[in-house]
Amino acid sequence: MPKINDLDLENWKDLSEITTDSLWIIDKRYNENGHKNGFWGNFVPQIPYQFIQRYTKVGDLVLDPFSGGGTTLIEARRLGRDALGFEINAQTCQVTQQILNDAEKFLKDNVTAKAYLTCGDSTSLDYNKELQKIGKKKAQLVILHPPYWDIIKFGQEENNLSNAETLGAFLEKFQVIVKKSVDVLEKGRYLAIVIADKYKNSELIPLGFYTMQVAQREKLKLKSIIVKNFDTTKGKQNQQALWRYRALANGLYLFKHEYIFLLKK
Ligand SMILES: C[S@@+](CC[C@H](N)C(=O)[O-])C[C@H]1O[C@@H](n2cnc3c(N)ncnc32)[C@H](O)[C@@H]1O
Repeated sequence: MPKINDLDLENWKDLSEITTDSLWIIDKRYNENGHKNGFWGNFVPQIPYQFIQRYTKVGDLVLDPFSGGGTTLIEARRLGRDALGFEINAQTCQVTQQILNDAEKFLKDNVTAKAYLTCGDSTSLDYNKELQKIGKKKAQLVILHPPYWDIIKFGQEENNLSNAETLGAFLEKFQVIVKKSVDVLEKGRYLAIVIADKYKNSELIPLGFYTMQVAQREKLKLKSIIVKNFDTTKGKQNQQALWRYRALANGLYLFKHEYIFLLKK
């Protein structure tokens, strides 16, 4: 099997920072080297860090079709991998471009990797063209962190997945993006989906397992299901007591975890 990372397995006992367990408890966001915590709905840089280290080499391309605040892009470039992100919301895209520019000063001298951001709709962009524009043919890792359907409204755009009117419409749009991503993913490489479930009318909607199945339909092989702890979002911090009351009153449990599905082409 060709090697797809730069880890030195001869000295595998020294790789203590690389996680191999399926339960991830991350208590603090890594907020250094250009990472900022201003984007509501971001994930922690430790997520892309783990996958970039295990599934890519220096010089490879990491694709993130839901780039939001740019966490994946900053982390990939910091680790010497090129990164390409797509973001549908023009304002988010503009702010993230500035964050990427600002983060450049944290790069080590020997890093030549670049982070590219295209402002556009991932359901309609031509991924091959976008890769061509930056001199690439294939991506070596795809990270998908879609809206958790309508939990957070990320913009007004019709094709913003957070505006999907039904679960079916959300999954249809997600499938288009998975398909396009798989098309440019190099064979033998990995795609990760980061997502949580949600409640609607007091019923649990298992978005995680639905999106996992969408990806499996694209002939990807499921390799791992990771459960990661999940902190109260900024929006819900002030309402913790109310949520606890609702949970007690409705016989529900409050979400403290999200899923990461890891699949291989
Ligand atoms: C959960 S956030 C991603 C956060 C990101 N991982 C971070 O750490 O900042 C999802 C993002 O996907 C964007 N998005 C939703 N639908 C999209 C689409 N069709 N094309 C491109 N971006 C989309 C949203 O506007 C939002 O910024």
